[in-house]
Amino acid sequence: MILDYEKINELDRYKVMSDTVVPRPIAWIVTEDDGIINAAPFSYFIPLSSNPATLIVAIGEKTPGVPKDTLANIQKNKKATICFPNKDNLEKLKLSATPLSKEQSEVIQYHIETQKLLKDFPPMISSSQSALFCNYYSTVQLPGKTTPIILEIKKQFIEDNRIDENSHIHVENVGRCGAFFSAMVKI
Ligand SMILES: Cc1cc2nc3c(=O)[nH]c(=O)nc-3n(C[C@H](O)[C@H](O)[C@H](O)COP(=O)(O)O)c2cc1C
Repeated sequence: MILDYEKINELDRYKVMSDTVVPRPIAWIVTEDDGIINAAPFSYFIPLSSNPATLIVAIGEKTPGVPKDTLANIQKNKKATICFPNKDNLEKLKLSATPLSKEQSEVIQYHIETQKLLKDFPPMISSSQSALFCNYYSTVQLPGKTTPIILEIKKQFIEDNRIDENSHIHVENVGRCGAFFSAMVKI
């Protein structure tokens, strides 16, 4: 069967794409504005290059013409801390996807513990095994309601026991397969 993307409606296209491109990593992005800490998950997210060390994430609108808080904060303050979910913090991750007003903090509302490791970057989610401290790099022009932005990794936190002598990292991140969450299994 050949699926013709011109003939599939937007919702079905989303379902077909996200069920096919699996697994997708989930960026649990922490941003800050005026002292309010924002956290939300994004799975239209993927690494782009390791030199420069860049990632791309596509963020939509909160309401027509109004960017989601994460996008607004990155556009304004040019900083993002990308954390990763695991099976122990997945319920908090799901809660943090609830749309709140810009003045409300998901980390306060849902009791998500954070820690400030670097003064120039938003805090990380304490239960994340690794975090990437990023600067805004550029925006990709794409028609439609989502804005793809490129972030450059400047520093990384990794739990001490999760990096080996060969610089390999061992994390137990949860990703997204279509509408489901899935733990990565090594084969
Ligand atoms: C696992 C998961 C992945 C998501 N991926 C995206 C995404 O890639 N892009 C997007 O705009 N929203 C995505 N969302 C929805 C946002 O998390 C949600 O709109 C959130 O309220 C945005 O929060 P903010 O306004 O504080 O940035 C995702 C939600 C979940 C649960």
